[in-house]
Amino acid sequence: MRLQRANNLADLRLMASRRLPRPIFDYIDGGADDEVSLRRNVSAFESYELMPDVLNDVSTIRTETRIFGQPSRWPLMLSPTGLTRMFHDHAELAVARAAERHGLIYSLSTMGTTRLEGLAQAVAGPKVFQIYIFKDRGLTAEFVARCKDAGYHGLALTVDTPVAGNRERDRVSGLSLPPKLTLRSVLSFALHPFWSLPALTGSKFDLANVSHRVDALASGPMSLFDYIAAQFDRSVGWRDVEWLAREWNGPLAIKGVMTPEDARRSIASGATGVMISNHGGRQLDGAPAPVDQIEAVREAVGDAPDVICDGGIRRGADVVKALALGATACSIGRPYLYGLAAGGEAGVDRALTLLSEEFERTLTLLGVNDVAALARRHVRTHLA
Ligand SMILES: Cc1cc2nc3c(=O)[nH]c(=O)nc-3n(C[C@H](O)[C@H](O)[C@H](O)COP(=O)(O)O)c2cc1C
Repeated sequence: MRLQRANNLADLRLMASRRLPRPIFDYIDGGADDEVSLRRNVSAFESYELMPDVLNDVSTIRTETRIFGQPSRWPLMLSPTGLTRMFHDHAELAVARAAERHGLIYSLSTMGTTRLEGLAQAVAGPKVFQIYIFKDRGLTAEFVARCKDAGYHGLALTVDTPVAGNRERDRVSGLSLPPKLTLRSVLSFALHPFWSLPALTGSKFDLANVSHRVDALASGPMSLFDYIAAQFDRSVGWRDVEWLAREWNGPLAIKGVMTPEDARRSIASGATGVMISNHGGRQLDGAPAPVDQIEAVREAVGDAPDVICDGGIRRGADVVKALALGATACSIGRPYLYGLAAGGEAGVDRALTLLSEEFERTLTLLGVNDVAALARRHVRTHLA
């Protein structure tokens, strides 16, 4: 199927599933445990109905907004995803270039496979770096300094990964880090010649932003992946958020907040926003769908902070619903990864084009000609 024939994200997902070896596709597509949150993140949007205003002038539609203090062509941003080179050779650069062309913010993961400095040089558009508070606070402080030097506009602090989620699809396929492949997955790799195994095992595959740390350890038995796994700190608390906010002194969102209480605390600790997120259903299974938490979170933090609904967006109309419930913007992970796997940069382009067309068409049909005019009355919970 050609990219232009993909009518929606579901088509791109199907193309990605054909193109990738099964273990790699499952790594993108899967979630934790029974994948209840993964499914709910998407299906929860169906519980909201859109209430149109008719006979409004919708000859032009204004969609621009600001996220992390940066201009955005419409209220969408790209979430951080690690190990992107596994999905396509062109990796993070392909995604960031497509985001820039669409006037959208790109977030680079700490677990990315492209150096943050290189990405900043190649892409002029607004950029966020996704950071962790590691056991070695020096490593986190080093990232803050590097992001300042490289001109990143914001930080997203991920707080929902004190341990890795239980992704059972990855266990079945043997996709662990470093990769140890089972017989079944080796077969699947062999059957997908478009996708090159060297992308995974070759020298280019690297956690590019942290690998320098491991050079220092090279004489020891520890691998890069062991090193990073050992850096996750279960004792991180609010004081650490205060510390990071002071160090960075710029737009900072806490990613993985779910409750109004934690949202309030995030802002009180120095963050400028929150990303309501359950990590795309990859961490705590059973956590609520982000869209269902928007109203309460917005009420808790007031008008000023960024409230970003992260996860489950598969249609432009989902973004409209999230905004009417009080979100500043939405954020997507899998939707652009499906595009990337299906067709590299052009595939990401296709995903972003489809979503933005759907978004604008939905606003037009809803009778709203300015994204700032979206109001609570434009959505209601489906009457059972
Ligand atoms: C393959 C993959 C890798 C991810 N890696 C990271 C990561 O390194 N850091 C992070 O904070 N979130 C990561 N996430 C979570 C995303 O940032 C985002 O929260 C999630 O994908 C949103 O849900 P969606 O896929 O339904 O849009 C990852 C998600 C996927 C699918």
